[in-house]
Amino acid sequence: MSRPLYVASPILPKLDDLRPYLEGIWDRRMLTNGGPLHDELEEALSRHLGIPTAMLFNNGTIALMTALRMFDLPSGGEVITTPLTFAATAHAISWNGLAPVFADVSPDDLTLDPASVEAAITPKTSAILAVHVYGTVCDLDALQDIATRHGLPLIYDAAHAFGTTVSGRPIGTFGDASVFSFHATKLFHTFEGGLLATNREEDRQTIYYLRNFGIKNEEEVVGIGINGKMNELQAMIGLLNLPQVEDERQTRAKLRQNYKSFLSDLPGIRLQPDQPGVSNSEQYFALQIDPEKFGRTRDDVYEALKSMDIFARKYFHPICTDFEPYRGYPIHSVWPQPAVDLVKTRVLCLPFHGGVEEQDIAQIRAVFLS
Ligand SMILES: Cc1ncc(COP(=O)(O)O)c(C=O)c1O
Repeated sequence: MSRPLYVASPILPKLDDLRPYLEGIWDRRMLTNGGPLHDELEEALSRHLGIPTAMLFNNGTIALMTALRMFDLPSGGEVITTPLTFAATAHAISWNGLAPVFADVSPDDLTLDPASVEAAITPKTSAILAVHVYGTVCDLDALQDIATRHGLPLIYDAAHAFGTTVSGRPIGTFGDASVFSFHATKLFHTFEGGLLATNREEDRQTIYYLRNFGIKNEEEVVGIGINGKMNELQAMIGLLNLPQVEDERQTRAKLRQNYKSFLSDLPGIRLQPDQPGVSNSEQYFALQIDPEKFGRTRDDVYEALKSMDIFARKYFHPICTDFEPYRGYPIHSVWPQPAVDLVKTRVLCLPFHGGVEEQDIAQIRAVFLS
């Protein structure tokens, strides 16, 4: 039994395996600015994720900010996004001098609802930033259709969808750009890190400049870039973690089946839907608790688990519009009351990683069945 049991627990390389990498870094004294480990990881991830233009960043937030920056959107332009996400999604919009506009989520799968996106479009709309929340894939066709009809760049926050494929097609090849996070809580991580992927090969140079202060050469700065560079220690962790990812993913896939075996038929419990043709990234195990049908609230279950040192998370409650910077922002919805208002009181993510043991599952099961 592992206690405290957190919602996430990182895979880690063996300490002995670090030594040769560290010796190489020490010998070369090239610590950042596109060192050999950085380049090796970038290539390995480009292959692993099936995306030719895949560029590493020091974290997912800077990668998201850069993704938005790539499109040279007009200052004050509106970017439609979901309120059911980590704060970084909305902040990346705001840090670019753009205005986040929140649209509702689909009550079926909790991703950005296309009809509500359409309802949020104004003459100032300049992009759509959708999130594959909990690893659930957005309605790709409907969002692309809206983006194409309105001439809007479509960017995906794929922080939860590492390695996901849809009918064999890599998730990072949809839309105009996708961003992955390699934060310690993610299936694949580099302690901190991120990646910006795009099909737009022609933008590689632009991303390269944006990631490195806009520096073109020793004497030229050609744009207002940022410091988005991943360093050699992060890249080392990535190279050592990447071969472990598939094992961890499979362990989590078994855990998902285990959770489902006692949760699927419980009245008042709703799981994220299985998506045909989608290979799940196994980032999160999210569920919703309907208090009327289940007999207890989400918060009751959360507290009962917590009393046993099991720390489930109410991701993503509070939602972005509950946070001070976005309080009072409307949530555009095709329903009289936004679906997300109810969802946020019901969502819970269970511990989901290779460190969850049979005894832990038994205790979690007992909380739900009691
Ligand atoms: C949906 C989402 N977007 C963006 C981020 C930000 O990524 P990072 O922590 O790598 O900056 C995260 C999590 O960390 C996330 O969950």
